[in-house]
Amino acid sequence: MQKIGVCGNGLMGSGIAQVAATSGYDVVVLEADQAALDRGMKRIRQSLDKFVEKGALQAAQRDEALAKLRPTTQLEDLKASDLVIEAIVENMPAKKDLFQRLDALLAPHAIICSNTSSLCVIEMAAVTKRPKQIAGLHFFNPVPIMKLVEVVKTIVTSQATIDTLFAVAAKLGKKPILAQDTPGFIVNRLLVPYLLYAIRMYESGLASKEDIDEGMKLGCGHPMGPLTLLDFVGLDTTYFIAEIMFDEFKDPLMAPPPLLKRMVLAGQHGRKSGKGFYDYEKA
Ligand SMILES: NC(=O)c1ccc[n+]([C@@H]2O[C@H](COP(=O)([O-])OP(=O)(O)OC[C@H]3O[C@@H](n4cnc5c(N)ncnc54)[C@H](O)[C@@H]3O)[C@@H](O)[C@H]2O)c1
Repeated sequence: MQKIGVCGNGLMGSGIAQVAATSGYDVVVLEADQAALDRGMKRIRQSLDKFVEKGALQAAQRDEALAKLRPTTQLEDLKASDLVIEAIVENMPAKKDLFQRLDALLAPHAIICSNTSSLCVIEMAAVTKRPKQIAGLHFFNPVPIMKLVEVVKTIVTSQATIDTLFAVAAKLGKKPILAQDTPGFIVNRLLVPYLLYAIRMYESGLASKEDIDEGMKLGCGHPMGPLTLLDFVGLDTTYFIAEIMFDEFKDPLMAPPPLLKRMVLAGQHGRKSGKGFYDYEKA
């Protein structure tokens, strides 16, 4: 594995491209349009500069990493990739279309992974002629900081593919864990029902939002309480994932509570919208 392709230069793709380049890989980053490509590259430069300011990276290492990145809007530029990590929009038809085109373009040995949070990886693998070389590679936001990667094995992914991805994750400085291709993988399967239950507690008047958050911070040592975390993750994103999990497992603990649905409908999506369980509008 020498050359990595990253599809999508948004929040996650830019972080993945940055980490791959800093770890010594040659990286081609594909975006749908030039403006989004430029925004992602700016995000990468700013993040690398911050690492240099903090003394976590030397200026020469930043420059080396930037030199290893090749931004493009042409799919053909990914042709020489040994591994492609897809981090485009969370939309199955868009992902299937990309997987099909990548499968036709890449060398037979190449592996294709999806950074999807909630979609079924085998559905993407099924549109290719290399299903054994398709897996999930689920990074956490912000990618340059968060240490975990879930390596997602479908019912047909080969052990050789999984072994390669564990080695790549380790070279990226991440701790890989093995997950199955079921909604939520490991982390969200535990986290989402917990977050939904915090909303139910608040909704039923059992406790104030501040006390729920303080309880989990001081009682369990969590860095932030569940309602603050929900605002951070995005209520719309959580609602979307909860619906997919409930649809698959029919577990009432995974059903989005009525308050969550109503907040999403009202546009209260958390930090990014200026309001969620807390207010973020600048005074
Ligand atoms: N945001 C998170 O916290 C998080 C965490 C883990 C995984 N994910 C997953 O990562 C993926 C990306 O999420 P994000 O938050 O970075 O989204 P984002 O909207 O920030 O970025 C997606 C980017 O993909 C680009 N794009 C769309 N179609 C494309 C195509 N065909 N080719 C190339 N680029 C294309 C868009 O222009 C956009 O810039 C999703 O599957 C999401 O579920 C997100």
